[in-house]
Amino acid sequence: MKEVKVNQFGGSWTEAKMEIVVNYAKAYLIIMNKQDWVKTLYFDGFAGSGSIGANDKEIKGMALRILDIDEPKPFDTYYFVEKDKKNKDSLEASIKENYPNKKKNAHVVNEDCNKKLIHMATYLSKNKAFRALAFIDPFGMSVNWKSIEALKDLGIDLWILVPTGLGVNRLLKNDQKIPEAWLVKLEVFLGLSREVILDRFYSQKTIHTLFGSETKTNKELDTIEKIGGLYTERLKTVFQFVSESFIMRNSTNSIMYHFMMATNNKTALKLANDIIKPKYKI
Ligand SMILES: C[S@@+](CC[C@H](N)C(=O)[O-])C[C@H]1O[C@@H](n2cnc3c(N)ncnc32)[C@H](O)[C@@H]1O
Repeated sequence: MKEVKVNQFGGSWTEAKMEIVVNYAKAYLIIMNKQDWVKTLYFDGFAGSGSIGANDKEIKGMALRILDIDEPKPFDTYYFVEKDKKNKDSLEASIKENYPNKKKNAHVVNEDCNKKLIHMATYLSKNKAFRALAFIDPFGMSVNWKSIEALKDLGIDLWILVPTGLGVNRLLKNDQKIPEAWLVKLEVFLGLSREVILDRFYSQKTIHTLFGSETKTNKELDTIEKIGGLYTERLKTVFQFVSESFIMRNSTNSIMYHFMMATNNKTALKLANDIIKPKYKI
């Protein structure tokens, strides 16, 4: 597994994650440039404001880094989705000011990513010349499985940040006494029933004691790695290929996120793995 260790949010893993996608986007555009009938769409589901506050300084966010790419060519269309109105306005203003020649093709919408993923799926199924590169970078478990499922059989390469440690694992309480709302959240996020999810992460053991038998619930060891494996498995029901995961840990070495790419194109898979592998090996 490829891992990177960092000290705090906005630290080196944020940079590393963005570098992976920028490198991928550049290689992607080189390939697409050779197929002149293809139109390229860049979709960012959690676009942010254009900049990220990191360690008391501001760094350029992904949206602007993608807009910076001109060689071998820019994307034909950019679609940025941002739920927070202030962030949306700030990203829009930044595009107007810094990328005047791209503003016509760069759309910024104040919406929920889930809704727009489904709209993109409809758009791609009707506009066959379009190929999409999507970047899904949420804070928490805000991407519903239904939105991912809508992308089946489409020409889309999807980079997704999966909150395995910071999200799913926190809801899977050690004693399995999980509140109803959390069970619903797990079901919506993974697209699986609670029975299947619980069966996957807990085992029951009957212990015989002097005064009768007791059933004990145990949570699986290495749950976070297994959540990463489960999400990969889920993505493989929608896409033909899923890359290795780029694993992000905090300063105490706990896994926070798995970052992975799903695609229906074998060349794209190799490209993603080649970008993830050598750079971030410990
Ligand atoms: C982790 S930040 C993204 C940072 C961004 N990738 C960048 O490079 O600057 C998550 C962003 O998603 C927005 N957001 C949260 N929930 C959302 C949703 N359901 N749909 C769209 N945007 C959402 C937040 O307002 C926040 O700006």
